[in-house]
Amino acid sequence: RDVDGVRRFQLNLRPGRTEFLPGKRAATWGVNGPHLGPTLRASRGDRVEMRVINGLPESTTLHWHGVRVPAEADGGPHQIIGPYGMWVPEWTIDQPAASAWYHPHPHGRTELHIYRGIAGMFLIDAPDAPDALPRAYGVDDIPLIIQDRTFRADGSLDEAALYQDRFGFEGQTVLVNGTYRPLLRVGAARVRFRLLNASSARVYQVGFTDGRRFHLIATDVGLLAAPLEVDRVQLSPGERAEVLVDFAAGDRVTLNSLGEQPKNTAGDGKADGKDDLDLLAIAAAGRLTRAGRMPSRLSADPMIEPPPGARVRTFVLGHHDINGKIMDMGRIDEVVPAGSTEIWEIRNESFAHNFHIHGVAFSVLDVNGAPPPGHLRGLKDTVLVPRAGTVRVAVTFSEWSDPVRPYMFHCHFLRHEDLGMMGQFVVV
Ligand code: C2O
Ligand code: CU
Ligand code: CU
Repeated sequence: RDVDGVRRFQLNLRPGRTEFLPGKRAATWGVNGPHLGPTLRASRGDRVEMRVINGLPESTTLHWHGVRVPAEADGGPHQIIGPYGMWVPEWTIDQPAASAWYHPHPHGRTELHIYRGIAGMFLIDAPDAPDALPRAYGVDDIPLIIQDRTFRADGSLDEAALYQDRFGFEGQTVLVNGTYRPLLRVGAARVRFRLLNASSARVYQVGFTDGRRFHLIATDVGLLAAPLEVDRVQLSPGERAEVLVDFAAGDRVTLNSLGEQPKNTAGDGKADGKDDLDLLAIAAAGRLTRAGRMPSRLSADPMIEPPPGARVRTFVLGHHDINGKIMDMGRIDEVVPAGSTEIWEIRNESFAHNFHIHGVAFSVLDVNGAPPPGHLRGLKDTVLVPRAGTVRVAVTFSEWSDPVRPYMFHCHFLRHEDLGMMGQFVVV
């Protein structure tokens, strides 16, 4: 934080080289380093300035996914930073505590730029988070960025593999925080993991090899009302979850993902649809720092109530289109009043898709007409829409009006997004 009270961040996007497979090097991109980027952290009320310097040989953008920002600071496809150019957005953080993230968003190239390694976490602190939650970064509060990759025999990233089918890419290897075959040693009896699915198209069902139960405490952009005991959490591309996991001294366990991929159940993948993967080996120390009390309440108001007579807009998801249209940078699809709360009804008439809205938080009102399951009862910015299913969400839009610069809504399966499964709205 500078003398003028502004918190300044400098983000240098640059090419580098990374050793994923032992003894082999791959060309990668990163932020302030060769691969991935630093965890950004700011508190509600902070004025932040992001100095983004593009040291890459091509144009890109940097989007703050899950962060409430004015449209001009959003980093969507309109805020292009040319090669060796700079972009310096500034805004005041004003939202509940959240695990947001950042990634490039150049139209048609988002998947490739994330695949090469531009992504990182953006943690927002706010007074609404109870003190009893683990909060020692890297000690008992640990971000886990989950991404799948395919490597060539020489250890380089296989980029051609991204484009082998129109549904999307599932890599042969899963990295956590950019690490191949990761091992985490924990020294605390209770650890908070901030899980982020930063993959192209894979949906993870995250849990543990020994089936242990744990507590879900937050969804994409906010805490739940109370911890929810679960044994798996589902994460589609772009989604986050915060969980509290208890360990005993000497525990050896692996974080894994079990289950089916929507791609496969759509009939164009592996016959049995199975997709079981190990994500992260965990070894607990012989002595662990004791866990505090599990907070019984987390957030006083985790849901958005739509006002009576709220405007309803309908979005029909086709194969790679929304309402029969594909993305046109010059077309505004929706005009929304600043500060309003609306109901967006998202109907999926195709295979699996999810739906992400920029610059907002939303609540899931129902899934196929039924009240949302517990794990969807926190603030979200991205939601999986089941095949042939309907999800209704209550969305509150920002107070920043800008009739010219749009925000995006889109499917976060990155191949779909790049193929144009995206639309634009302005807030006025
Ligand atoms: Cu995470 Cu428009 O994206
Ligand atoms: Cu976003
Ligand atoms: Cu999609």
